Amino acid sequence: MDKLIITGGVPLQGEIRISGAKNAALPILAATLLADGPVKVGNIPHLQDITTTMELLGRMGVELVVDERMNIEVDCSTIRELFAPYDLVKSMRASILVLGPMLARFGEAVVSLPGGCAIGSRPVNLHIEGLVKMGADVHVEGGYIHAKARRLKATRLVMDLVTVTGTENLMMAATLAEGTTVIENAAREPEVVDLANCLNAMGAKVSGAGSDSISIEGVDALFGTRYDVLPDRIETGTYLAAAAITGGHVRIKDTQPRMLEAVIEKLREAGASVEVGDRWIELDMNGSRPRATNIRTSPYPAFPTDMQAQFTSLNVVSDGTGTISETVFENRFMHVHELQRMGADIQLEGNTAVIRGVNRLTAAPVMATDLRASASLVLAGLVAEGDTVVDRIYHIDRGYESIEEKLAKLGARIRRVPA
Ligand code: UD1
Repeated sequence: MDKLIITGGVPLQGEIRISGAKNAALPILAATLLADGPVKVGNIPHLQDITTTMELLGRMGVELVVDERMNIEVDCSTIRELFAPYDLVKSMRASILVLGPMLARFGEAVVSLPGGCAIGSRPVNLHIEGLVKMGADVHVEGGYIHAKARRLKATRLVMDLVTVTGTENLMMAATLAEGTTVIENAAREPEVVDLANCLNAMGAKVSGAGSDSISIEGVDALFGTRYDVLPDRIETGTYLAAAAITGGHVRIKDTQPRMLEAVIEKLREAGASVEVGDRWIELDMNGSRPRATNIRTSPYPAFPTDMQAQFTSLNVVSDGTGTISETVFENRFMHVHELQRMGADIQLEGNTAVIRGVNRLTAAPVMATDLRASASLVLAGLVAEGDTVVDRIYHIDRGYESIEEKLAKLGARIRRVPA
């Protein structure tokens, strides 16, 4: 297994560009199953989760052509199998996103249940319940969801809680349903909006995405199109936090500051000067130590759970005591134990981490447990004294494109050591 070795102590300086958003690319690739013609998707990040999605579609018989700039053309006319196997779904939960499109377009789908994961039980009951309300016949047997429907019927879906992929799955299913579906208490994440924009480019009639009430007027067919994925706000936030933790000064290009208001607010509270333009963000810490902040994760537009671990690291070396409350996932503090091994002073009280800032962290061998937890360990390594070795970095490769190259471009002393 590859490892990252980071020698801490360099304030990050310079400029990098942000890749396309993983969490928009995944549903958009799933949405190509709905189209009658080929869909060309651009600005796709080069990530393990994208490879997994391509393998999933490929095993179904879908034809995929990738060019050297990571534009992927997907043609579903050759589909043979309406099946998502356990070995792929367990390695990437977002595979569940093929359920709604397959069922809506082909009337049938067999998709493995994802099971638990490192950050909690993460059920998909709301995906299933929504499809049942739209008239699907669904049963779970042998660990698989078996779904059938002649044509889904529009209805009003009031979601019990805000779920991102749940909203996306049901929105995709509704594009080909009979009548107008309304999803209430819908997720408002920018990636939901990006998916809606792509679906509309394919001929769907989705309105209200970005609000908590999405309306989808069903159409008879969707068509091929070309669509570019929006920039990754979590990758953006991670590099901003990396600059802040090192006392650095960076400019992040090809991003959308509007999607990061809650994160930028907290960075300013931590003492950073942050300037934004239309497609860029510049952060300057002026070499100073961050101040502790209090954070509570919640669905968009509040502070994202996918930035929680990185801000835990920031608080670990900040001046003062800060709290981090995780309200979205039940068990998303695995990084805390690794950070403690580097000298962090963190106490866990239920879903809240109380963090007393320390003056220094010392390098240690640490283990990545999930995608964003891994990023927090890299951030800690950037300021720790000595060489931090981060093991199991396949978690990082699922969601950060060329992380060591981008950090090295900002001056970090980081290298990948192959297994
Ligand atoms: C998506 C993101 C992930 C992010 C998360 C929350 C993708 C591919 N992944 O994950 O990076 O951390 O949103 O912003 O976009 N829940 C249920 N029943 C369901 C569905 C969800 O109880 O049927 C619960 C979950 O266990 C969790 C909460 O709802 O506690 C929110 O989860 P959800 O928004 O569904 O997360 P994902 O869509 O899996």
